[in-house]
Amino acid sequence: MTPTQETDLILIVDDSPADLEVLSKTLTDAGFEIAIAIDGESALEQVGYELPTLILLDVLLPGIDGFETCRRLKMNPLTQEIPIIFLTVLDDTLDKIKGLNLGAVDYVSKPFQQEEVLARVRVQLKLYSLTKTLERQNTQLKQEVEQRTAAEAALQKLTVDLEKRVEERTAKLKQTLSELQQAQMRLVQSEKMYSLGKMVAGIAHELNNPVSFIDGNLVYALHYIDDLLELLHLYIKHYPNPAPEIQEKAEKIDLDFVMRDLPKLLNSMQVGTERIATLVRSLRNFSHLDQAEKKAVDLHQSLDNTLLILQHRLKLTSKFPGIQILKEYGNLPLVECYPGQLNQVFMNILSNAIEALEESVINHEGTERIDKDIPKIEIRTEATNDKVTIRFADNGPGMTQTVYDRLFDPFFTTKSFGKGTGLGLAISYQIVVEKHGGRLHCVSTLGEGAEFIIEIPLPKAD
Ligand SMILES: Nc1ncnc2c1ncn2[C@@H]1O[C@H](COP(=O)(O)OP(=O)(O)OP(=O)(O)O)[C@@H](O)[C@H]1O
Ligand SMILES: [Mg+2]
Repeated sequence: MTPTQETDLILIVDDSPADLEVLSKTLTDAGFEIAIAIDGESALEQVGYELPTLILLDVLLPGIDGFETCRRLKMNPLTQEIPIIFLTVLDDTLDKIKGLNLGAVDYVSKPFQQEEVLARVRVQLKLYSLTKTLERQNTQLKQEVEQRTAAEAALQKLTVDLEKRVEERTAKLKQTLSELQQAQMRLVQSEKMYSLGKMVAGIAHELNNPVSFIDGNLVYALHYIDDLLELLHLYIKHYPNPAPEIQEKAEKIDLDFVMRDLPKLLNSMQVGTERIATLVRSLRNFSHLDQAEKKAVDLHQSLDNTLLILQHRLKLTSKFPGIQILKEYGNLPLVECYPGQLNQVFMNILSNAIEALEESVINHEGTERIDKDIPKIEIRTEATNDKVTIRFADNGPGMTQTVYDRLFDPFFTTKSFGKGTGLGLAISYQIVVEKHGGRLHCVSTLGEGAEFIIEIPLPKAD
């Protein structure tokens, strides 16, 4: 209902024909439409047909009075908002208060001043219209707020969804990256193993032939030289005074010394060839290229082979005091494993220890080293019912927590570019944990060295 001022319908409820006439004329002249009721009941009935915009209600009526009519109008949700102005002859303040309390908006005292009636009606209609506009605007505002709230909620949900999707993507990407790194690592590992093994096997093979013919012929050479020396002794015994030319030659070559030194010389040659032969055997053992299957091996032998290969890096030089290797081997059973791969692990861990010790020596340069600082690596082995444990402890610089946390990450290295690939420990971890179902971990304190511990499970005894 949008009240447009001059065509508003005003209901006049009054039983006095004179008043009715005055009011009707005044309002009609002012352009209002009017309806008339002469008592409360017919007024209530009338509003049922057509809702007026405003009601002028006489207090004194036959039947139910104006107050009761007002009360009933206010009880009906359809009519409760219609502004009511009381018409009263009583200039009684109490009556006015009663009327206002019942919900009337104003009152006009009889006898009427036409201008006053008109003014009051207009004011109330204006007020009513303004209230309605306000209400409408309020509802509209409320709707807008609701819409905004809904939009905000939708936006928030969208943001959450988006965040979730970003998270999922990131996780997926991370996983892909990690898979890629693993794949790359495996590739590098197999390539590294393959080329190292191939090279070692090649060198071993190339060395093996010449060493075996030196070794084999040396026995005969020793034999022949023994014979020849014996013969010489006999000559000297039976011909103490040889021809001057022989005597001269004997003196020139210092025959006595040659005869004493030659056997010694040959002996050391034999020791040397034996050493070469052992090294060749170690190299062959180390490569184990053909060893695709598990094999029961003596891990002490594997350790010794690896140490032999690393021998040159342990020795004292003008710049380096040499590394002491302390072995504390326990009683180990033969261990079912991939020997070539475990050798690789030993090699990686020992190389790291050597590199750490070299670094600490470089850092100590110029300062006096005390005895406790002699670089050393302790290798301890031990077997229990269910596993063998191999420990490598060095007294190098140890490591910071940051390094410790990333130790086994593929491609993590603190070494300068080209010096370390950062794969040694990652590969070792894979070999020990994935290939052998074991454990590889490290204990280290900064400044106090590092210990790497390998545990290989033993099959359950029946
Ligand atoms: N015994 C140790 N003492 C102190 N730090 C160590 C020791 N062993 C390993 N580290 C640290 O762990 C890092 C990773 O070692 P890892 O063997 O995986 O790679 P790398 O030795 O740097 O390179 P690569 O072995 O591929 O040549 C090293 O760069 C080093 O910082
Ligand atoms: Mg390394």
